Amino acid sequence: MNNLKVSFLILVSLVFLLSVRQSNISKNNELYAVLQTVQDSVKWAAPASANKLINPYEANDENIEIGKRIYRKHCRSCHGKTGDGQGVGAADLLTTVTNFTNPALFEQTDGSMFWKISEGRNEMEPYSNKIDEEDIWLVILYIKTFSSESSKQ
Ligand code: HEC
Repeated sequence: MNNLKVSFLILVSLVFLLSVRQSNISKNNELYAVLQTVQDSVKWAAPASANKLINPYEANDENIEIGKRIYRKHCRSCHGKTGDGQGVGAADLLTTVTNFTNPALFEQTDGSMFWKISEGRNEMEPYSNKIDEEDIWLVILYIKTFSSESSKQ
């Protein structure tokens, strides 16, 4: 299946599950399992051009501290205090929240991550119109500290 088809499948499943939820019928575990398998099988890739975007901020203590404040306000509810993807809001979502303690996630460039945070996917909303570009770059510095591997860089 190509990415477009898979994205479409995710969308259809989401719309269906949301309508099920709204009609107060209890969650259908089998459908959840299918949706999560589809989500896991589709790697979220930013366009190659995103790699050209360079983080203008240095990963120093001061900038990481600012990033932490942004994270607490906008991201912690889903991604969790320790970045494990188990925030209080995560349980209500239909898709799995990305775990930031996984160093493999940070093999991508800051530019790729900037693009994804700006654009969003599924229940991860686009943040381009919610927070300033500067804040997206700063919060990236902070989320990279959740995986000890990437914080060594
Ligand atoms: C409503 C819950 C929610 C909030 C709030 C939220 N996220 Fe997410 N985030 C998700 C979900 C769900 C995914 C997985 C999306 C997918 O794989 O389709 C995700 C994925 C990601 C990814 C993974 C991209 C990749 O490479 O796979 C990054 C980075 C991210 N979020 C950053 C953030 C940042 C930064 C904030 C705050 C500015 C934030 N998120 C706020 C739910 C949330």
